[in-house]
Amino acid sequence: MNDLSGKRVLLIVSGGIAAYKALELIRLLRGGGCGVTCVLTDAGKHFVTPLSLQALSESKVYADLFPLTDESEMGHIQLSRSADLVVVAPASADILAKMAAGLADDLASTLLLATDKPVLVAPAMNVRMWQHAATVANMARLSARGIHVVGPDEGAMACNEFGPGRLAEPPAILAAIEALLAPHHDLGLVPARPLAGRHALVTSGPTHEPIDPVRYIANRSSGRQGHAIAASLAGLGARVTLVSGPVSMPDPAGVTVQRVESARQMLEACQAALPADVAVFAAAVADWHVAHAATGKIKKVPGAAPPTLEMVPNPDILATIAAPGPARPRLVIGFAAETENLIANADAKRKRKNADWIIANDVTPETGIMGGEENLVHLITAEGVEDWPRLAKHEVARRLASRIAAALA
Ligand code: C5P
Repeated sequence: MNDLSGKRVLLIVSGGIAAYKALELIRLLRGGGCGVTCVLTDAGKHFVTPLSLQALSESKVYADLFPLTDESEMGHIQLSRSADLVVVAPASADILAKMAAGLADDLASTLLLATDKPVLVAPAMNVRMWQHAATVANMARLSARGIHVVGPDEGAMACNEFGPGRLAEPPAILAAIEALLAPHHDLGLVPARPLAGRHALVTSGPTHEPIDPVRYIANRSSGRQGHAIAASLAGLGARVTLVSGPVSMPDPAGVTVQRVESARQMLEACQAALPADVAVFAAAVADWHVAHAATGKIKKVPGAAPPTLEMVPNPDILATIAAPGPARPRLVIGFAAETENLIANADAKRKRKNADWIIANDVTPETGIMGGEENLVHLITAEGVEDWPRLAKHEVARRLASRIAAALA
């Protein structure tokens, strides 16, 4: 994480169900040593209170235009210029339209018109509003004016619709802020792709371990989670190499896919893909392979005993790539599918395999997670355990990609 100490962000919180995520953003900024001054719009007040913004930012919250014209208080020109960066999160369709039109009928829009500082917007709205020609035209005008944009994400929305329009996750907004405040930042660059220039390696799917040319041993894995992670990382601008076992999923757009069958081939493809900044091992790798796979189909001889298979361990791909050394990616993330003592077993796995993070998921059959659309995971790091709510696998992927972007920023 970049050092944000000594920096100050003016955070404008406009109306929308996603306004609660502004609280998490303030927490992240304060954690990085960044000063935060909040401005709350009238619509924003319906979703978060000035008191919660004030408690987290440890600063006065501004909401009304006219008291500020009294010069006994900080004037709005000064307020708009005392920060290093102005961030609008969430940015509603309404405030984006006001910015595009240059309106100044409340404190937030007046500050946005008066500021001489870079501005970052994190749009959040219903998918139809986001895709409306008026919003599309407003965003084009804002981009042409050099306004920076992060998100929106695609996913399920509070209004029961699905599509782009969700507020970017706070770690992704933080990563964009860090990029904009970095000393070397070229203000011509739009940091909506916080992983641009990074290489991510992802494994996905099962492995097939041959018994003979027609039979194999495999794990159950649809590849849904790993493929979604590859797609999310690519969405944040990373160059992604996806090493996938046999799956029926289509290749994610914008990702280089290496198809393999066995664990040994998967390891080889992973090693060939290095160096990488981050590696995510989501594949369900078979633990053993048949020592001497037959080169011809094993015959079923009537009356004869069935064949006995001698099994030998597969290489542990995660542990091999995570081992200390010059080729080790900066951030190595494993998965742990467990049916008992989930957290303890997963954390032990994190340490044993030298991974930085482990995503632990409970795969007892009752959860319906194996092969399903949803996942219930816990993010385990050296700092502790975070319980995530039950989420669609693509949403788990998006959150993880945002966290990766923040960690590599
Ligand atoms: O030991 P276990 O299979 O439960 O570990 C799970 C984690 O290790 C996953 O991230 C999986 O992709 C990875 N793994 C691996 N190579 C193996 C076995 C597991 O990369 N041979």
